[in-house]
Amino acid sequence: MAMSQPVPPIDFDAIPPSALPQLLRRMPKAELHIHIEGSLEPELIFELARRNGVSLPYPSIEALRAAYAFQDLQSFLDIYYAGASVLILEQDFFDMAWAYLQRAAGDGVVRAEIFFDPQTHTARGVAMGTVIRGLSEALAKGRRELGLSADLILCFLRHLSEEDAFATLEEALPFREHVIGVGLDSSELGHPPEKFARVFARCRELELHVVAHAGEEGPAAYIHSALDILKVERIDHGVRCLEDPALVARLARECIPLTVCPFSNVKLRVFPGLPSHNLPTLLKAGLAATINSDDPAYFGGYLLQNFQETFDALPELGAREAWLLAQNSLQGSFAPEADKMRWCVELDAVFREKTTPSSGK
Ligand code: ADE
Ligand code: ZN
Repeated sequence: MAMSQPVPPIDFDAIPPSALPQLLRRMPKAELHIHIEGSLEPELIFELARRNGVSLPYPSIEALRAAYAFQDLQSFLDIYYAGASVLILEQDFFDMAWAYLQRAAGDGVVRAEIFFDPQTHTARGVAMGTVIRGLSEALAKGRRELGLSADLILCFLRHLSEEDAFATLEEALPFREHVIGVGLDSSELGHPPEKFARVFARCRELELHVVAHAGEEGPAAYIHSALDILKVERIDHGVRCLEDPALVARLARECIPLTVCPFSNVKLRVFPGLPSHNLPTLLKAGLAATINSDDPAYFGGYLLQNFQETFDALPELGAREAWLLAQNSLQGSFAPEADKMRWCVELDAVFREKTTPSSGK
């Protein structure tokens, strides 16, 4: 019987730095932290406002874009929720998601796990079905036409009550097949994970995946409680974990993915600039960090641009780290295991190709 040869490890040192931009683009990767309402570009906001007869407090696209200067998370959220007010019809949700998926496919994204904030819409009288059907139709088209695997994660707004979250869950249950999990977003400080213990327990009973924003502006203690009380499978952001060495050890031991968002962290002043971002330290500590765009229309770029500019700003990041970040994203996703394995094989192939002197693609 023929024995299969062991595959040699990828020789990252044999990859020239000049190959990095192309690797970042071509490597298959998952985006695990993208709020679909945060992909609403000013051009589409104005188009939807026109279509739906909604008046905007900005005279032009340029004036709206100029308002995208944030002091902190709350100053961003105020403008982000205002932007979402133009979304009314199923077609609007479809158009927004389809625009994102086309960009993601161009960035080498093979898997997207997409957050949406239904309470932002249902509070304005938009039906849950309108939101979920519009988004799901776009995801189905993305699977068919772009070969992009994508699913929806419903986020509860943490500045609202747990009772409101329970009501939102009830409203979403008729659409259970279109939602793979739940998350927790919006204003972090003063709204600890504990507030949502019971609704997350119910979601786990329903076999929904569970994730939560924690340790973005909030303290490391919120990461502990997201793990202990909400029993989340991933931490969104989590960059403040480094303030607690025991937590870092735990995140590494339990292989908890962190969905890090470099542009977001700079725009919301979690770090003064990309050169001071702690991503290299997170990776060195053995954490399963990933790169994501969070709200790309507001923070200056989509996934590939987040990768490129973060790598440009941080000399510790090279081919090995690019591979690791892509691998972490694929393995940390909620995609079927067979898909993950196939993407990881493709990922290795993209890197191996660059270690051979003959490759000039
Ligand atoms: N909603 C959209 N983007 C968010 C972020 N970065 N943090 C919390 N809630 C959000
Ligand atoms: Zn987020």
